Amino acid sequence: MMRLTPPTHAELDPIEIASRDEISALQVERLKTSLAHSYANVPLFKDRFDAAGVHPEDFHSLEDLAKFPFCKKQDLRDNYPFGMVAVPKSDIVRFHASSGTTGRATVVAYTQNDIDNWADLGARSIRACGGTRDHTVHVTYGYGLFTGGLGAHYGAERLGCAVVPMSGGQTERQVQVINDFGADIIMVTPSYMLAIAEEYERQGIDPRKSPLKAGIFGAEPWTNAMREQIEDRFDIDALDIYGLSEVMGPGVAVECLESKDGPVIWEDHFYPEIIDPDTGEVLPDGEQGELVFSSLTKEAFPVIRYRTGDLSRLLPGTSRSMRRMEKITGRTDDMLIIRGVNLFPSQVEELVVQTGGLSAHYVLEVRREGALDTLTVRVERDLSATPDDATAKELQHRIKGVLGVSAAIDICEPGSIDRSLGKAKRVLDLRKI
Ligand code: DLL
Repeated sequence: MMRLTPPTHAELDPIEIASRDEISALQVERLKTSLAHSYANVPLFKDRFDAAGVHPEDFHSLEDLAKFPFCKKQDLRDNYPFGMVAVPKSDIVRFHASSGTTGRATVVAYTQNDIDNWADLGARSIRACGGTRDHTVHVTYGYGLFTGGLGAHYGAERLGCAVVPMSGGQTERQVQVINDFGADIIMVTPSYMLAIAEEYERQGIDPRKSPLKAGIFGAEPWTNAMREQIEDRFDIDALDIYGLSEVMGPGVAVECLESKDGPVIWEDHFYPEIIDPDTGEVLPDGEQGELVFSSLTKEAFPVIRYRTGDLSRLLPGTSRSMRRMEKITGRTDDMLIIRGVNLFPSQVEELVVQTGGLSAHYVLEVRREGALDTLTVRVERDLSATPDDATAKELQHRIKGVLGVSAAIDICEPGSIDRSLGKAKRVLDLRKI
């Protein structure tokens, strides 16, 4: 099957291949404006800056940003629904919201300029994955308050692609529409892509014969092992797209087709930092910590030093001048501590996918027995395999050997783990029930 080709230099926005000095100069200018706008129009930022004894005029160079205070998801909850909106209601053209697993929803807002920038960055992202106006893009991210569907949609449309606004669900129909409409690119969560693969097989169609040439996957963590599995199963290129509603939505960062080495952060609109999640100290590029973003151009919902909770590293540019982020390994809040060992679901995923006879549908169940936490990895067998005790032992052995945790393995029948239409839930914490 044919694959897509990366854009040529002539097709890129000049800033994508600008010098680092040009990018930094633009960031300084834009940060000055963004800090002043946030301070003048969002009481939370004014109060925080005042309390920290800093003023937007104290900002002269990128190093100065570290003097400014952080904000985080709880701030959005505390200011529900519109307390952090920085423009009059008449300038707002769109709201999005995420339900969150606990507590109040978080609401974000956009002006027409914000929507235009988002569409431009969405288009730039899809182009980085090899998309052009000749392609048909099948959007399976959910449409609605979630930013995935509409974000992908506007980006694809801005690039001039033919967009199929399928949204999530109706798995049977997904297969039919992909095939009949001749989709070149699919945008969907990686976990739901696996459900679509199974549906192809259920219908007796080889997914490798689908018209798809590339998939742009995100909204949840997924490993390189999962990438290989999806690429192999569909005979496509699988690219990682990152984003979050508070900072914009999908398209804050995306992988380039030519290098597939971690998402490139669109640094002309978002300034990234990595901090030590415990101390808040800024860490040098290359070190792992929590990803923090300041928006450079947002009008309706500017964020200054927003703590994403996502763990990553900043890496030097390769296919573009802008820096990359390492594929997300986990979130500060989905780290499990099992008898003193820190563990992320993605680490288990890698080992599950590498073990023959198992599918990538898995869930980690944590229980408390007496004073001890126990971990059970429930994983479905592969449709075409009949794994036995040896398979369970092999996975158990790998988890113990690589991650240092003793886990019980429960290999279950295909279809017995809930399929999510959007973000997969990988941890079932039964300690709190
Ligand atoms: O998930 C936006 C999005 C939609 C991104 C579609 C990509 C594709 P939220 O619902 O606000 O927004 O969730 C944001 O999802 O902080 C990460 O923890 C996680 N996440 C998003 N993309 C990735 C990714 C959308 N590529 C939260 N890899 C973020 C790992 C991701 N985690």
